Amino acid sequence: MKQYSIRKAHQDDVKAMHELLLRSAQKGLLLPRALIYLYGHIRNFFVAETSEGNIVACCALAPVWEELGEICSLVVRDDLQGQGLGRRLVEACISECDALHLKKIFALTYQENFFMRLGFKSVEKDILPQKIWADCVNCPKYPDCDELAVLLDLSENGEDALRPRVNNALPAPPPGKERHCG
Ligand SMILES: CC(C)(COP(=O)(O)OP(=O)(O)OC[C@H]1O[C@@H](n2cnc3c(N)ncnc32)[C@H](O)[C@@H]1OP(=O)(O)O)[C@@H](O)C(=O)NCCC(=O)NCCS
Repeated sequence: MKQYSIRKAHQDDVKAMHELLLRSAQKGLLLPRALIYLYGHIRNFFVAETSEGNIVACCALAPVWEELGEICSLVVRDDLQGQGLGRRLVEACISECDALHLKKIFALTYQENFFMRLGFKSVEKDILPQKIWADCVNCPKYPDCDELAVLLDLSENGEDALRPRVNNALPAPPPGKERHCG
């Protein structure tokens, strides 16, 4: 069986990541990411690589707010799905949370059940801070977001810990003004 290594991405990976994301975006599964975005946010990304150096999957962990990060731009090449690469990439992101002092990570997704398998819980979108809705206007689906929010709480306090701090700091997004999957 073929071996894949998971590692932090670097600039040479960008074109392959761009292609992977574009293919999934064309199916409406996630947002495409421009090359300039990928070059600028490369530090957020992990990739899965074959021993020949081919990039077959990627995923980003983006810090977005106090103690809060987002899993975004997660994609595994079609023919390699179901072999654990998605899990390994998300786990790599989770393993970075400690160093970044992130206690909770969320995703906006159509793949709710995949995230559930990894310990995420389904949550209402309005518990997430308004800061994350800033990208909304760039989404083709705006303002009719139909994605689900999932959250993994790495602290002991549970998801309720997010609610008072965030909602005191910032109002919830207006109804129907939610944002895209990354
Ligand atoms: C979603 C995606 C990243 C999952 O990656 P993957 O490598 O196929 O998933 P894995 O093999 O790591 O699966 C991990 C677990 O989730 C389960 N799983 C995977 N996809 C699932 C799905 N769509 N629904 C339910 N469970 C799923 C697997 O059965 C596995 O369970 P197990 O650990 O009990 O065996 C991949 O299907 C993909 O790239 N989809 C297209 C792009 C996309 O939708 N990205 C998500 C944007 S947020």
